[in-house]
Amino acid sequence: MNNIKVVKAEQLKSKPDANSLGFGKYFTDHMLVMDYSADQQWHDLRIVPYGPISLDPSAMVFHYGQEVFEGMKAYKTADGNISLFRPDMNLKRLNASCERISIPQVDPEVLLEGIVQLVNLEREWIPEGEESSLYIRPFIIATEACLGVRAAKEYKLLVILSPVGSYYPEGIHPVSIYVEDQYVRAVRGGTGMAKTSGNYASGIKAQEAAKQDGYSQVLWLDGVEKKYIEEVGSMNVFFKIGGEIITPALTGSILAGITRDSVIALLASWGIPVVERQISVEELFEAARQGVLEEAFGTGTAAVISPIGTMKWENEQISIAGGQTGEWSKKLYDSITGIQKGERDDHLGWRH
Ligand code: COI
Repeated sequence: MNNIKVVKAEQLKSKPDANSLGFGKYFTDHMLVMDYSADQQWHDLRIVPYGPISLDPSAMVFHYGQEVFEGMKAYKTADGNISLFRPDMNLKRLNASCERISIPQVDPEVLLEGIVQLVNLEREWIPEGEESSLYIRPFIIATEACLGVRAAKEYKLLVILSPVGSYYPEGIHPVSIYVEDQYVRAVRGGTGMAKTSGNYASGIKAQEAAKQDGYSQVLWLDGVEKKYIEEVGSMNVFFKIGGEIITPALTGSILAGITRDSVIALLASWGIPVVERQISVEELFEAARQGVLEEAFGTGTAAVISPIGTMKWENEQISIAGGQTGEWSKKLYDSITGIQKGERDDHLGWRH
């Protein structure tokens, strides 16, 4: 598809220092936009200069939060090509989120073509340093001007790009986690399985409290009994207990992470099955007490693998893998980023 209209920016920005990118602070020169109206459906996919957009103060997204987003990354590979990592999975999940939030779904092929053209236009922005990539943020907002509580009839899709370094300042080094026993992230039947802004807004208070007490993030428990482990911060979570790798089963309140899926598939390809089941925080701490909790790590697009070094639950604090990056955390991080950057054999066909 070559008919995407492109309006080039008149002035290009200077690129940020590659050593102090942080996460999501800088944005490229252009963005992808598409509009939806009830009579025209999704229309006018176009690339325009990056910049503020104008919305009516009564735009429904401001009032009732009808929004979905995705996060994916582009890399410059060793042979000078550009690769996206499993973008089909992100677009499938975007539509699953749309379905849950009553937003009209998009044609994944049209959107992927638009993203490819945008990334190609902005290829000079892809940082090459270790732990660096070009983060791609597609999102859809309800733009119809109306205060009635119902699905909007007008939407805007945007894709913005941000050169990023590691998500946590710690990088691949272990983080400390506080087991959240007051607030919950999601409940079954709610929106936990959708990537929508409200899920993240409701998590910030617990995250702030944990930060104040010196922890990087919280471990989320289920919303009914506050007994079973769901996610860590904004990531999925894995544990190695007595030689077995376990991750909470997707029950409806947990986001189906693409890195989560990749870890499971990669381990399976190495002959190591991952057990997807409910795991209680009591079982986890008992494993630590018995000395069989060998590793714990979060998985997500932003940080890829984030090892957990310590965890606090009620009055008990445990240290995991001696507070070091565990063997499997490191191996999985190296393998996934190696595939993403074209430095490793892509035996599962994930590079696009
Ligand atoms: C991830 O990619 O792990 C996330 O969900 C974090 C993102 C919202 C910044």
